[in-house]
Amino acid sequence: MKAVKMSEGIYRVGANIKNGDMFEGMWPIPDGVSLNCYVVSGEKKALIDMVDDWNNAPGQIREQLNSISMGIEDFDYLILNHMEPDHIGWLQEFVVINPKVQIVTTPKGVDLVKAFCGITENVSAVKSGDTLDLGNGKVLSFTEIPNVHWPETMVTYESESGILFSCDAFGSYGEVHEIVFDDELSQEQHDFYDRESLRYYANIIATFSLFVLKAIDKLAGLDIKMIAPSHGIVWRENPGVIVERYKQYANFMNGKGLPEITLIWGSMYGYTEKVVSSVVKGIRSESVPVHVHRVPEENASWALADAWKSAGIVFGMPTYEYKMFPPIAGVVDVFEDKRVWNKKVFRFGSFGWSGGAQKDFMEKTKKLKWEHLEPLEWQGEADDEAHKIAFERGAELARMIKKAE
Ligand SMILES: Cc1cc2nc3c(=O)[nH]c(=O)nc-3n(C[C@H](O)[C@H](O)[C@H](O)COP(=O)(O)O)c2cc1C
Ligand SMILES: [Fe+2]
Ligand SMILES: [Fe+2]
Repeated sequence: MKAVKMSEGIYRVGANIKNGDMFEGMWPIPDGVSLNCYVVSGEKKALIDMVDDWNNAPGQIREQLNSISMGIEDFDYLILNHMEPDHIGWLQEFVVINPKVQIVTTPKGVDLVKAFCGITENVSAVKSGDTLDLGNGKVLSFTEIPNVHWPETMVTYESESGILFSCDAFGSYGEVHEIVFDDELSQEQHDFYDRESLRYYANIIATFSLFVLKAIDKLAGLDIKMIAPSHGIVWRENPGVIVERYKQYANFMNGKGLPEITLIWGSMYGYTEKVVSSVVKGIRSESVPVHVHRVPEENASWALADAWKSAGIVFGMPTYEYKMFPPIAGVVDVFEDKRVWNKKVFRFGSFGWSGGAQKDFMEKTKKLKWEHLEPLEWQGEADDEAHKIAFERGAELARMIKKAE
């Protein structure tokens, strides 16, 4: 791959991390993820964001720099918007190749450069409103956006081109190849990044939704012509699309979910499983879309993404050792961590003798601001009456969600 020109003297160079690895060691990336860096050349040259030594990312970056006759040693500045290792893992080797490079990050970033890489020389701190003049009309300005994704995070804006280098904010899963800009994508590719930006958001950013809204407000004063995140595509034609999308994602936490239902189920011997289709039929009888996920067969990444955007969630699980079926308990834990708040919720499941899953479920979801429908539990095999109630509760939840629209 070659470096891609974005504007005079500004290029995108990116590495693709392939399927097979997990992002953050836990989220599947069947279609990979890109780690994007950006070159800004004035009289002085800056590289914005870096990569981890992962899947030969450094080699991919160097190859693309070569395509514009540049090397690591040519940079005067390395701008580190965010210190998570996906963007700085290769820093120690970078400074060995280029010992003169000036590292620019936030005050908290300075501490993390030391903690993660042991680097204390040639590191300087910038705060919101500070600028760095690279000459030839290229001026970088910095805005701190704490907790999108870590406390030290900032974005960098280049005023001549109007490009916002937003790091994790406005990012997505998915590899990026020759097609880098939003205006070059087919509808199918847009749909892909639409899905994968939601999954990335739900998996990585959701917990910090309040800070996402604050960051979007803070950036409102900038004349943004392009958004260049460090994961995913560059928004050149319609940068407003990804900003609006992130705003919507953040507001899902506040109860503004879509009129859809996510059903997550797990079952040992099939007694709960048999009732899943009755609930699904009930939901569909009200023409409400339903996304069905089974755990532990499927990683919770997808259920989290669907639940994040859905106004309603259904859990199907049996009792296991007086508590929730553990794979579902794991999902509930993730939902609590990620602040899957303000949902309308229905739970159903089988038990053997005295149950216990429901009590455990209610206790563990107390803080999530969920509105619960009457649960459905039965002993052993579900009878016709249980199937009928399952259908009716599914339909009732669907109606509640439509009414809340
Ligand atoms: C390991 C294990 C632990 C269980 N613990 C309980 C329990 O504490 N209380 C209860 O009422 N039933 C318990 N059961 C019974 C199941 O809840 C019951 O068999 C149910 O029908 C299983 O539904 P499923 O086939 O959807 O998994 C347990 C079953 C197993 C296999
Ligand atoms: Fe991050
Ligand atoms: Fe990242």
